[in-house]
Amino acid sequence: MIDMHCHILPGVDDGSSDLQDSVEMARLAAESGVVGIVATPHCAGDGADMMRKSFSLLREVIKDEKIPVELFLGMEIFGTWATAELLKEGRLFTLNGSDYPLIEFDFHADGNECVRILREVSREGYRPVVAHPERYDFIARDPGLIKTMCDMGCLLQINRGSLLGRFGKKAQSLAFMLVERDLAAMVASDAHSSAVRTTWMRDVKELLEREFSAETAEKLLVANPLSILKNEKLVYEPKWFK
Ligand SMILES: [Fe+2]
Repeated sequence: MIDMHCHILPGVDDGSSDLQDSVEMARLAAESGVVGIVATPHCAGDGADMMRKSFSLLREVIKDEKIPVELFLGMEIFGTWATAELLKEGRLFTLNGSDYPLIEFDFHADGNECVRILREVSREGYRPVVAHPERYDFIARDPGLIKTMCDMGCLLQINRGSLLGRFGKKAQSLAFMLVERDLAAMVASDAHSSAVRTTWMRDVKELLEREFSAETAEKLLVANPLSILKNEKLVYEPKWFK
């Protein structure tokens, strides 16, 4: 598996608190069957240099500790009107330098404004990956926004915790609906530590295999993430693109 959304970098956001926690997160991921992790610290435009340094340090330590997991650099970009410009200027990182930026919004944001921000980013040639849409109030209130996002080419990343019911019934049923209707492009940990909201992915893989199919698990946890890492088109386009 490849985990496309993970707050594993030490001390740069509300994720891993220190290097030891980060190493433990990498170890847990590897033990659960993860071979690649994209480090995606929260970012709205500042701190890119610090994140790059933290990434290089952690990658070295993971190598020294002989943990069989490869680390890639990305960001969880907080979507604002400045996002498209900052991406163009290289002050925000996409997922492993691809054309796919991972973008999140405030949970209580105005849904129509989010859609307009995503449109601006798309117009610059990027293909936004929307982080955990199942957790936003504006999506729960107006699920039609999902179609608008998909129609403009956005991809939807579902959280492991949502499928496991850790963010409440509403987020869980929305997450299941997005997978069931073939609208989800990938599932990721969005891990913040080695103790709670962890990098362990085997349980969600088993859930996807049990509730949907082995092919669904493969598509959401392996094939689509791999295409993004290589900056290629998805092998399995979500339903709206078929
Ligand atoms: Fe996150």
